[in-house]
Amino acid sequence: MKIETTLTPLEFSVIANSDLQETACVVFDILRATSTFVTALQREAKEIIAVREIAEAVAFKKDRNDILLAGERNGVKIQAALSGGFDFDLGNSPREFTREKVRGRTIVSTTTNGTRALRACAGAKTVLVVSLLNLRATADYLQEKDYPEVLLVCAGTGQKAALEDILAAGALTDVLANRGLSIFPLSDATETARRTYWQAKTDFAGVFDSSENARRLRAIPELLADVAICRQRDVFNLVAVMGFDGAIRKL
Ligand code: MLT
Repeated sequence: MKIETTLTPLEFSVIANSDLQETACVVFDILRATSTFVTALQREAKEIIAVREIAEAVAFKKDRNDILLAGERNGVKIQAALSGGFDFDLGNSPREFTREKVRGRTIVSTTTNGTRALRACAGAKTVLVVSLLNLRATADYLQEKDYPEVLLVCAGTGQKAALEDILAAGALTDVLANRGLSIFPLSDATETARRTYWQAKTDFAGVFDSSENARRLRAIPELLADVAICRQRDVFNLVAVMGFDGAIRKL
């Protein structure tokens, strides 16, 4: 298994223009899109359709009134003023995606980076949606499938890299390495992620919370609790896959 990693969102266009027919993409947006999507599936949402733009999400709603609209801009739930009159049902906090609200529902979500990262991977053989919450389950799946080419995609924030995504990519690489899978030699970007994770290991929560995104969320009182929730490891035993129809579902 050859593992390549993209560390910044500047690489989304390269990903979108690459031939990924033989590649399994693994997308990380730890704070918070992929953590939230995985949580929604754990709470029995039927599927999440990730779209880039607010207008795309609204177009879905106009077609199908039964869907839930979700997403954020600047971390905050999308309001009518931004979406031409549609108040979104949910933001991008995993705490909002309760079983009562999402069970059996189709959710259409647009977020600043996470949904763009996912859409960039649309041409891949497989697209896995991963967070710290389902990291081990995703590692199990990758081990079982033993894809020859794996691309770890760190969604980042705006145009910049995000430490928590790199930590998670490093943690996943570390799990696969410790299982004796033949993943060496690592590319420089994958090695960077693994070493970043190693260095953080002894104070994972402290390093995670020092990231720009964690500090941004912790400065917003109603979003502060999301940071500790998204930093939990291996609490969900599920694998989330984005199908060719763009919908993310539990395997
Ligand atoms: C994103 O997609 O950029 C995020 O997950 C941002 C956020 O939730 O605040």
